[in-house]
Amino acid sequence: MSEALIDQFGRTVDYVRISVTDRCDFRCVYCMAEDMTFVPRAQVLSLEEIYQVARSFTELGVKRIRLTGGEPLVRRNVISLVQRIGKLPGLEELLLTTNGSQLEKMAPALRDAGVTRMNVSVDSLDADKFRRITRTGDLDQVIRGLDAAVAAGFERIKLNAVILKGRNEDEILDLVDFAQQRNFDISFIEEMPLGLIDEHNRELSFCSSDEVHEIVASRYALTASDATTGGPSVYHNVAGSSARVGFISPHSHNFCHLCNRVRVTVEGRLLLCLGNEHSMDLRELLRAEDFSDEKLRQAIIQAMDLKPEKHHFDLGGEPEILRFMNMTGG
Ligand code: 5AD
Ligand code: SF4
Repeated sequence: MSEALIDQFGRTVDYVRISVTDRCDFRCVYCMAEDMTFVPRAQVLSLEEIYQVARSFTELGVKRIRLTGGEPLVRRNVISLVQRIGKLPGLEELLLTTNGSQLEKMAPALRDAGVTRMNVSVDSLDADKFRRITRTGDLDQVIRGLDAAVAAGFERIKLNAVILKGRNEDEILDLVDFAQQRNFDISFIEEMPLGLIDEHNRELSFCSSDEVHEIVASRYALTASDATTGGPSVYHNVAGSSARVGFISPHSHNFCHLCNRVRVTVEGRLLLCLGNEHSMDLRELLRAEDFSDEKLRQAIIQAMDLKPEKHHFDLGGEPEILRFMNMTGG
């Protein structure tokens, strides 16, 4: 069967991001509070349940799945899940978003399981600053992970950097230099108000994509590219290089009209939009006595009607979205 998933606004959903754990070995200041309460294990989807969800989506025409977290690679036996999802008929691309801490040992197995592209978060190239932003992260370990990923033959590696004023905005050019030297794409991300944090004031630290663009353009000749990797990144080509620079601007440039994706949280909540609470509980279905694959597919089809037209983020005031990014899957 191959019924397409189409929402009320005519957008075809062919991309699903699945958070396989809300846990992480880092505590990035924009993503988590220092003291996090994680979801009790009984409420987290089992690997088998995640696989069932992934299979249903591919049966409904989804061509691309991204595994995220938290940090997906800290979930026990995650490789077995990656291997099974990698074999699903109809799946064209299996992607991963990671902080890189486990890549040194896991990169070859991930590549063998069919992961073709990876996003690795790197917000700083200064070990002390990296530690302060991630609270627990070891930059060297991440760099070794990137080296292992290159050696394992990934088709494309992209760095993600969240730029915060007064924190790492002075490293924008260093980050682009680093990416260019290694032929990695890099995307700069505007901070999103997901979850309550008190470590910094999001309004004051906000650095817009336009500001980052201007800094990059002071050293590199950028030309807008119409390339898309199916995500919200607006890419720019760099003269003389095949590695691109992207900007993800949930605030300044609304990309909702191009949105082709939905997300599944660690608790099996199907989220129709990152910036809204519209969701459907798939876990309840998966654990019901009368569960069937058909019921799961029908629920997913029905959920498309809940997908809102666009998100609204407001940096001042109370965050509307109390979910942290690690619950949602970046
Ligand atoms: N705003 C913007 N980006 C975030 N990430 C995590 N939390 C936030 C936030 N509040 C980023 C991570 C990672 C990607 C998946 O999402 O840095 O690169
Ligand atoms: Fe972990 Fe990624 Fe969140 Fe950092 S941004 S705490 S690496 S999940």
